[in-house]
Amino acid sequence: MTLLWDNALLTGNDLLDKQHKELIKRVGHFLKALETGVDKEDVTKILEFLSEYAAEHFRNEEKLMALHKYPEYKSQKQDHAHITKVLSALLTYVKDIGVTAELVAQTHQTIYDWLKQHIHEKDKKFAAFLKHKET
Ligand SMILES: [Fe+2]
Ligand SMILES: [Fe+2]
Repeated sequence: MTLLWDNALLTGNDLLDKQHKELIKRVGHFLKALETGVDKEDVTKILEFLSEYAAEHFRNEEKLMALHKYPEYKSQKQDHAHITKVLSALLTYVKDIGVTAELVAQTHQTIYDWLKQHIHEKDKKFAAFLKHKET
């Protein structure tokens, strides 16, 4: 399975789009690592690499939202907190139990599909809000 960037995810904000592309790229690496069954240490490293970037992206996005007094800041923050928790639970799982078929089966949906939906539904809305502010 190859996870390619989908242009339907473009928000129209260059900074957000650049970060989302990097984020999806790292999700792709992680899912690929799970599927190809590389060892636990490698999967852990790839997952940490993904989590670090996700945290950085959410910080950036939230900073921007606070700066522009975005009315849906709270809902965004809740979403970011949710996926951060999922990523951290995954990391604990991989460290304690390892890579299992169950994990491989669930992760695509809990991480990739979830992120795509978040970008579609909420980040696009925020980008539109930013654009409106600029003009
Ligand atoms: Fe985002
Ligand atoms: Fe977001």
